[in-house]
Amino acid sequence: MANQFDVIILGGGPAGYVAAIRSAQLGLSTAVIEQDKLGGVCVNIGCIPTKALLHSAYIANLLKESKDFGVDAGAVKTDYGVAMKRSRRVSEQNSKGVEFLMKKNKVTVVKGTGTLQPGKKVKVGGDVYEAKKAVMIATGSRVKGIPQIGLDINKTTVISSDEALFLETAPKSMAIVGAGAVGMEFADVFSAFGTKVTVIEALPRILPLEDAESSAELVRAYKKRGIDVIAGAKVTQAKVGKDKVTLDVEAGGAKQQVEAVVVLMAAGRAVNTENIGLKETGIQLTDRGFIKVDQNLQTTVPGYYAIGDVAGPPMLAHKGMREGVHVAELVAGQKPHAIRYDNVPSVTYCNPEVASIGLTEDQCKEKRLDYVAGKFPFSANGRARGSGETAGFVKILRDKKYGEILGAHIVGAHASEMIHELAVARENEYTVEEIELAIHAHPTMSEAVAQAALDSLGRVVDM
Ligand code: NAI
Repeated sequence: MANQFDVIILGGGPAGYVAAIRSAQLGLSTAVIEQDKLGGVCVNIGCIPTKALLHSAYIANLLKESKDFGVDAGAVKTDYGVAMKRSRRVSEQNSKGVEFLMKKNKVTVVKGTGTLQPGKKVKVGGDVYEAKKAVMIATGSRVKGIPQIGLDINKTTVISSDEALFLETAPKSMAIVGAGAVGMEFADVFSAFGTKVTVIEALPRILPLEDAESSAELVRAYKKRGIDVIAGAKVTQAKVGKDKVTLDVEAGGAKQQVEAVVVLMAAGRAVNTENIGLKETGIQLTDRGFIKVDQNLQTTVPGYYAIGDVAGPPMLAHKGMREGVHVAELVAGQKPHAIRYDNVPSVTYCNPEVASIGLTEDQCKEKRLDYVAGKFPFSANGRARGSGETAGFVKILRDKKYGEILGAHIVGAHASEMIHELAVARENEYTVEEIELAIHAHPTMSEAVAQAALDSLGRVVDM
């Protein structure tokens, strides 16, 4: 039957397309159903275009300081429209790349909106597709507003990352509600393009899931660049006008007004679980609105799996990708390694970058663990001095008795790359001693990882 496959995947984002490739590699006939462009939020309106814009922001910041390096770039002019268009080309290229991978792996791509039906079936328009082995739900997530500003994003004065990625010019001023990854990355981008940015965060500190020292370091760097940060703040009221928004903000008992041409909502995302036939199929949700899954990521109805954002936090592309591989291997009859949800790296690609893995120091304290913190600042690292990227540090939390790496936190240039040394170490249960035993090339910023390991052992060399 033409509409019968071993595996049908609803959604072609990072979780879905990777699951499709792995399924096909394992000899399963596979179809992906996607209503929009392949690659999902990540490729089209998330990870990929933002990284392109962040690089434009990095260049702008670098050129503003280039005189110190003996390079006079003259008066630096920025044009967000040009950077935006470049970021679109990068996204386009990546989405085409996913299309190519689907063809290469002989995955059938069905264009359209799919709804689940009982019996491992998915309906797309007038056609019904049937899975012999499994249906994977990978429908992802979308932006959401907050009640105080009206949940509706009017797309002119109240925007989300979806709109920010398509602006032709950088607005004069911007208030960003939420200081998670989205908020901090866009603050960086727009500030570099000349926007006066104010970030408002409800919890006591920005990037609240990161180590407190990482948050503090980032606040310092942002303040230096003229970005205002108001943490522990509540938006109590909003006046949304045609060409500006006025927010009443309460922080630490004090009230203030923040006025901006544009408000960017970055207060989290909602999962796409509506209108996909979950109820009709009998698939249940958790109290928090994610799809309920067991340790194999199987939903409450056998044969239906959930992967990526809909399956629960952390809502990160790389976590979804791993879940896609995992379920594909399970469905093909293999025994994949259990996913280590405690070893998913977290990266915010702002300047300086913030990356982490494992526990924060506060979590070590809450768990009453006997730990030692080792820390090494990039200001003491030769390579960082050479490139003038001395902000930040590496911090490693070491179990006092066994040397286990409980957590690691890096703030600084290339933190997003350096964190993987610690991810591999933790995955393989290496100790801090073993990290340090591996010879680190000199001069590299990665030496700071080895030095932080040494510091946790009480024998740091370069400080
Ligand atoms: P988030 O949940 O990471 O951060 C939202 C922030 O908004 C939180 O700190 C929260 O306390 C704050 N907030 C919520 N309501 C608020 C209110 N009324 N007033 C002020 N602050 C409020 O969500 P975000 O940044 O929108 O990202 C969505 C998802 O996408 C997350 O899971 C994130 O990890 C992921 N993502 C990952 C990226 C990366 O890995 N670099 C980049 C962008 C997004």
